Amino acid sequence: MFNIAVFVSGKGSNLKALFEKIDKEKIKIVAVVSNKKNCGAVEFANQNSIPVFFIAEVSNDEFIDYKTLAKKFFDLNINLIVLAGFLKKIPDEFIDLFNKKIINIHPALLPKFGGKGMYGMNVHKAVFESGEKVSGATVHFVDKIYDNGEIIEQEKVDISDCNSPDEIAHKVLEVEHILLPKVVNNFFKSLQ
Ligand code: GAR
Repeated sequence: MFNIAVFVSGKGSNLKALFEKIDKEKIKIVAVVSNKKNCGAVEFANQNSIPVFFIAEVSNDEFIDYKTLAKKFFDLNINLIVLAGFLKKIPDEFIDLFNKKIINIHPALLPKFGGKGMYGMNVHKAVFESGEKVSGATVHFVDKIYDNGEIIEQEKVDISDCNSPDEIAHKVLEVEHILLPKVVNNFFKSLQ
């Protein structure tokens, strides 16, 4: 089995899309990692019996740190880490441990509209204000710089009829839900 861990911070619609669309005979979501105790993504994981780890830079009663998480990932034989709406920066030491094994979905066509502070609705507001007619989603490898790693795949979407950042977000999210599972399925196939 190809084991994946999915990092989340919010609604979890990308987690749901992954769960529904990955090739279940070969790929399994064995862990969800969240920096938030209560969010839609955690609820979805609980409903579907996926173990959840709560992560923080510094551990406490309820959150584990990245060093502990890395140990758990080695025990669980994690093959790929997917950031699906995870809004915190991953520490450099953790990235070193899982080099080229961490991918992220970003709700715009990188390298445009990326970097520090560019997440969630901030991205769609910036795209809307720029007057772009096309946006989309990007899946890329995670390196130590925000939204900078090698691009794996992008999908464009026409936003010329969108009258608000919300409308752009809605259209881009639909594209994300197709792109992310597709990249994960292809990633597994490329290793065969
Ligand atoms: C998605 O649009 C994802 O691309 C974005 O957060 C949203 C999470 O939605 N991620 C980033 O902005 C990362 N820079 P979800 O919780 O419903 O999957």
